[in-house]
Amino acid sequence: MSTTLEPRGAHEGVPAYYFDNRTPGPLLSHQQQWDELASTTHGFRSTVAQGYWVVTDGPAIQDALQDWRTFSSTSVTVLDPDPRYLWIPEMLDPPVHTTWRRLLGTEFGPKAIAAREPEIRGIASDLIERLRPAGGADVLDEFARRFPTLIFMRLMGLPEQDLDQFLEWVHEMLHLSHAEDPEHRRQMAAMTAVSAYFTEQIAARRQAPRDDLLSRLMSWRIGGEPIGDADMHAFCILMFQAGFDTVPIAIGWALYHFASHPEQRAAIVADPALIANGVEETLRVYSFVVPARKAMRDTEVGGCPVKSGEMVMLPLAVSNRDAGRFDAPLEVDLHREENNHIAFGSGPHRCLGSHLARLELNVAMQEWHRRIPDYRIAPGQQLEQTGNMYGLMSLRVEW
Ligand code: HEM
Repeated sequence: MSTTLEPRGAHEGVPAYYFDNRTPGPLLSHQQQWDELASTTHGFRSTVAQGYWVVTDGPAIQDALQDWRTFSSTSVTVLDPDPRYLWIPEMLDPPVHTTWRRLLGTEFGPKAIAAREPEIRGIASDLIERLRPAGGADVLDEFARRFPTLIFMRLMGLPEQDLDQFLEWVHEMLHLSHAEDPEHRRQMAAMTAVSAYFTEQIAARRQAPRDDLLSRLMSWRIGGEPIGDADMHAFCILMFQAGFDTVPIAIGWALYHFASHPEQRAAIVADPALIANGVEETLRVYSFVVPARKAMRDTEVGGCPVKSGEMVMLPLAVSNRDAGRFDAPLEVDLHREENNHIAFGSGPHRCLGSHLARLELNVAMQEWHRRIPDYRIAPGQQLEQTGNMYGLMSLRVEW
């Protein structure tokens, strides 16, 4: 078992557990724990902090993500139902959310993203080419984390010499264990530094706009009003969190998968057209995002009697690994025909960056396997994954 899960009787007639999703665990432990929970219950109460509901029924998770009137995004953190911060667009509900998404759609839609392919391919090839002579590396540190971060900095118009500083902030904010940062001081310090960094970047563009996303944002109007500094800032902070950790995690799982399944690796090397399916299947099987919502009225979901104001956790892994939706759901099937997984979420908040993420993942896998077709997981390492979002902490590979 990965996350802490200890029985705590019942709450309103529903089984209760001390369930803490923040705890790191061994390889694939969180996903397997969701499988076990989903096989025995539709939902339960977690008694961590003020308590929250956890839904373990695939269709109920998808319905809740669609029903934004009942399940609001004004909080998306189960332990913080009344946040004093705002992330845009993630923590907005329609109709303001809809206006933001419409405007952002021009920047992140399929056409705008496809136009970036040559640049993205160039970055991937350079990084892999530089790594290749070493014969082995921690592929998370040396490739998976650098690649999307660099692309993202270009997209936002941030100076590339800040890359190492960005990677350090991401590490301090998202990857420290409880032992390394027991009072969250390092995490808070990194958050403060990131916040100050974006304040500076926004101020610079107010003075002298450039040809970048942040400058364009300044010319948009929401509800007839230009976007103020506070909302610009709320957008930058969300983009930092949404864009910087997810793609590295997904690349880490894809490389782990193809390193540990040599016959499938040989298949994608022989026929790179299979890579697109390989990417979708690894996103589905290794699902790592766990959204949460705040109930706006008394309701019932997954058998849980939810009261207005309470928080609900909606793990995507349950839906994506559900035998009711997929044949052999735990297997990566390179020839699967129907794959309507929800690794990018569902409903109005479905991932804004999905076209970019898909392009990055496909390009990363194509360029990697063209240059390093034969590789294996380096022996002697104990693979572990983070809590919250389930990503490998490190992955040493040899070739
Ligand atoms: C494999 C990579 C990725 C995965 C699996 C992923 C997954 C998700 C999921 C599940 C959500 C919905 C969260 C919720 O319902 O509360 C989401 C939202 C979002 N993602 Fe991604 N994401 C990825 C990459 C990216 C990238 C590269 C960007 C931007 C550059 C991005 C930007 C966003 C934004 C802005 C939202 C909020 C959308 C809204 O609230 O309307 N994501 N993502």
